[in-house]
Amino acid sequence: MKILVTGGAGFIGSAVVRHLIENTAASVVNVDKLTYAGNLSSIARAAASDRYSFHQVDICDEARILDILRTEQVTHVMHLAAESHVDRSIDGPAAFIETNLVGTFRMLNAALSYWRELSEDARAEFRFHHISTDEVFGDLPFDSGIFTEDTPYAPSSPYSASKAGSDHLVRAWHHTYGLPTVVSNCSNNYGPYHFPEKLIPLVILNALHEKPLPVYGKGANVRDWLYVKDHARALELVVTKGVPGESYNIGGNAERTNLSVVETVCDLLDTKRPRAGGQSYRDLIGFVADRPGHDRRYAIDASKAERELGWRPVETFDSGLSKTIDWYLDNEAWWRPIREKNYAGERLGQS
Ligand code: NAD
Ligand code: DAU
Repeated sequence: MKILVTGGAGFIGSAVVRHLIENTAASVVNVDKLTYAGNLSSIARAAASDRYSFHQVDICDEARILDILRTEQVTHVMHLAAESHVDRSIDGPAAFIETNLVGTFRMLNAALSYWRELSEDARAEFRFHHISTDEVFGDLPFDSGIFTEDTPYAPSSPYSASKAGSDHLVRAWHHTYGLPTVVSNCSNNYGPYHFPEKLIPLVILNALHEKPLPVYGKGANVRDWLYVKDHARALELVVTKGVPGESYNIGGNAERTNLSVVETVCDLLDTKRPRAGGQSYRDLIGFVADRPGHDRRYAIDASKAERELGWRPVETFDSGLSKTIDWYLDNEAWWRPIREKNYAGERLGQS
């Protein structure tokens, strides 16, 4: 297998690259534009493998993508490259439409041209796996409902609308042109190498810097959390065992309010890295203006992936969060340059 991974220098893409190189015999072709969210140091060890190659390319560049598919003789595509941060999509949606929607369109066009050139056997083996989000399903009430693969799409933010549009394009390329596509929709990931604009790494690092921990609104919004290594394992199963035309929901069965997530981070840090003076990190929690259009709750029914792919998460939220905090405590060399770059005045500077 030769798998073209787009966005392999990002948070989940880098976990996929590490997983494929460390735990399978597949070769990996990483295609990444290296935006603010891309970081090759997240895959330094995997990149030393002779089964790894890298192309710094924008997914909107269809000709370059087609050329890479041909010259690398790719057998599977795992398409993760995207603009991923909801708050940034509210401040500036253009990049989200360009990369998530137009970029996916370009990827599909390139993949279709390439697929049509393959032998019959190679066409049967080929897969285009589009990695998407539970946010396409929209807003759930606090006390009822769960997303299945049949839940109608109702995206709320520019980010989730761009992802929903890209999911529809992928389905259309299967339905109309026969391209063997699979889609997966996953809940909130967390774990090592998570860019510290997202809630969990932001809170860990702000706490270590004695800065306020910003909780939107009342902190009552609920997300389902999945440890990123568990997601990477699921994605390998989807791309190798998923049925063309199907989609698979992936989740951690770990719904938490945002406030309880932040409090749990504080409590773990109180034990692992007590504050000077003995106060709890909880004292740093501050409630700030809510995110516009903030979806109340997401919840994922992942029983199809469990039943059909034999996948189950290994980590609980408590075990995964503890490992994540240990990783941030041990890997200042990874996050220090990011914190010190120019993000202090932007998203990271909520404090
Ligand atoms: P990320 O922001 O950490 O990484 C995105 C990567 O894509 C970066 O390496 C970036 O350089 C690259 N990229 C961006 N635009 C590009 C372009 N035009 N051409 C080539 N490369 C480009 O994102 P993530 O959190 O790792 O998410 C990866 C995928 O998983 C996304 O498609 C996202 O929608 C989806 N997803 C994320 C989560 C989550 O909790 N983070 C959950 C479900 C689904
Ligand atoms: O559900 C899957 C999605 O999870 C992915 O598709 C997205 O790419 C990924 O970024 C993530 O989106 P969220 O918006 O849920 O993640 P974020 O970490 O930004 O926020 C998690 C929750 O915490 C959300 O309800 C908003 C809230 N929050 C976030 C930040 C950054 C805060 O309360 N304070 C904050 O400072």
